[in-house]
Parts: sequence; structure tokens; C-alpha cells
Amino acid sequence: MKIACLAGDGIGPEIMVEAKKVLDALSLDIEVADADVGGTAYKKHGHPLPPETLELCKASDAVLFGAVGDPDCDNLERHLRPEQAILGLRQALTLFANLRPATMFPGLEDMSALRPEVASQIDLLIVRELNGDVYFGEKAIRTLDDGRRQGYDFMSYAEDEVRRIAHVAFRAAQGRKKLLCSVDKANVLETSQLWRDVVIEVSGEYPDVTLSHMYVDNAAMQLVRNPGQFDVVVTGNLFGDILSDQASMCVGSIGLLASASLGERQTDHGTFGLYEPIHGSAPDIAGQGKANPMAMILSLAMLLRHSLGLEAEAAKVEAAVAKALEDGVRGGDLGGSAGTSEVGDAVVARL
Ligand code: IPM
Ligand code: MG
Repeated sequence: MKIACLAGDGIGPEIMVEAKKVLDALSLDIEVADADVGGTAYKKHGHPLPPETLELCKASDAVLFGAVGDPDCDNLERHLRPEQAILGLRQALTLFANLRPATMFPGLEDMSALRPEVASQIDLLIVRELNGDVYFGEKAIRTLDDGRRQGYDFMSYAEDEVRRIAHVAFRAAQGRKKLLCSVDKANVLETSQLWRDVVIEVSGEYPDVTLSHMYVDNAAMQLVRNPGQFDVVVTGNLFGDILSDQASMCVGSIGLLASASLGERQTDHGTFGLYEPIHGSAPDIAGQGKANPMAMILSLAMLLRHSLGLEAEAAKVEAAVAKALEDGVRGGDLGGSAGTSEVGDAVVARL
């Protein structure tokens, strides 16, 4: 088994060190190879996603990804910006299904932006489509005939794109509480109308799952009013991006949310995928040893589960993180003072 480690920018490298400590502590027979990505790769190789990095990912069973984003690069042409590396990987590797679980860890209810009794109900999975939508449509800033500048981004979904993510979401719901809520903006957008029609078509194959639909504005409101009502949420790329950040604060910290991006390619033991914390590169605290590595470590757990078929090991890692939290190990994002390596060591000690 082989995994590619792409630490990237900002806090990426420091949290990756902690995930590797955890991996080492499991003593598994896994080959690990590192490669540059993001602003770091741009500075060294002139491109945020160098061909060698992409090749390494393709030759691996899974990719463990830190974060990309570097304020030094914000004024580069768009195709050279660090963010293009993650978007490029998602597209080149056809990673269309992004799983973003948000679960309340016992003992952290007070950290939630919501009232503890509301927050304690949260146990949801956002299934975000990752290869389409306004993210990948034609886009530009152009000058109109009258001289005004106009920015545009083309939003679209083809039915097969909706169908394949719908299947992922229905199957995920079958393994949970069998409730699926599809989030769209069908009252305004044709893209969403097609989305809704196709999700309803697919639902015929999953009579055991209860399907509901919600407009995205209402979903944003319901997520803070009564998040306990959600089991699996399926939505498009843009809405999923926004709602998953919102969900993270409902469970206490963005420093705790892991994600898996999966495609169709099967490995010897599971599905090829890319695993990353959802928080990003946090340049304001980079290099200070303050970042909470838990989301990175939980991403490693998802990798073990989905790409390497190591369910027992994945559960062990998750239990060790939960135990560390229960024992009061808290990074700055959770109101504590434990540094990055201290948190990593605390998780390793509990494995
Ligand atoms: C995410 C991030 C990315 C996205 C950025 C870094 C391009 O916000 O993974 O949620 O918008 O998808
Ligand atoms: Mg995001």
C-alpha cells in the first residue's frame, strides 16, 4: 500500500508531521512518499500542481493532503494560484464525492457556537459534489461594449454528474439513519431544478431511504436552528463548500473536521481518494506550532477506512482523538493551550 503525502502551505506541513506520527505508531506496512503542492510548489517549481506531484498521486492508493493557500500568491494569475492545485487534483483524479462528517465530540458542547443542548444533537454527513457546478464552468472578467467590466461564472450540472453523487449519498444514508436531505435552490436556479429532478429519479432505487429537499437558504438556517434533524445532506459544490464551514463551527471548531474526496477508481482494498482537513492553510498561525492537528489526524483515519480497508485502525485513531478531547487536550481553537506536537503526542499516547 502506498500513500502520497502533500503537506502544502501554511499550517499544512506542521499538521502533516503529526498525522505521520500517528501513522508510524500504527506500525502498518505502508509506503509513504512526499511531494510539493500549492504555493510551496509554485515557489520551487513554478506551478502549484507540478506534473511529478500528479503522477505520484496517480501511482498511490490514496493522497493525504494538508492545505493550500498562501497570501504571497493571491495576485498571481488564477491558474497559478495555490487553490488551483486542489481544484486540479479533484478534477484530474475525478474525485467527485466529498464526504464531510460533522459530529459532536462528547465534552465539546460548550465550544459550539450553538447552545449546548442544540449542538449535542449533531451527527451529520455532508456529501458535497466536487467536480462540477460554478467551480468548473466557464469564467472570466470581460469588458462589455459600453466599457463596464463584468465578471461571470457559468453554473451547470449534467444529469450524470448529479446521478453519481446521488448514488453515493443514498448509499451513505443506508449505512446511517436512512435520512437524506438534498439541498438546492430550485426555486430560482434551473441547475437546481435538474438536480432535484435527478435526485428524485435516483430515489426510486433506494426505497429504504427517506428523501427530503430543502432550499439552501433554509438549510443554512436549519443547520443552526435544529442541526439534529440532519443525517446525510447531499448538495452541489458551492453550497456544500459554504454549508460545511458552517457545520464545522456548530461542532465547536473547524480544527476538528476531516474530509474524504472519492472517485470511482478502486484500489486493492477500497476506493482511491484524497483526504484533507477542511480548514485550509491558516497563514495567520502558520509556523507557530499552534494549529490543531486533529482534523488532519481524523483525515488519516478516513484514508485508512476508505482507501486501505483498515476499518479497525481507523476506528482506533478516531477513538484516540475522542479520548484526548475527553481528557481535556485542547488546542487554541478549542480555548486551550496545547500546541500542535503536544496534541499529536497526546493522540499517539492514547492509541
Ligand atoms: C474547501 C476549500 C476549497 C474549496 C478552496 C481552497 C478552493 O474551501 O475545500 O472547502 O472551495 O473547495
Ligand atoms: Mg471551503
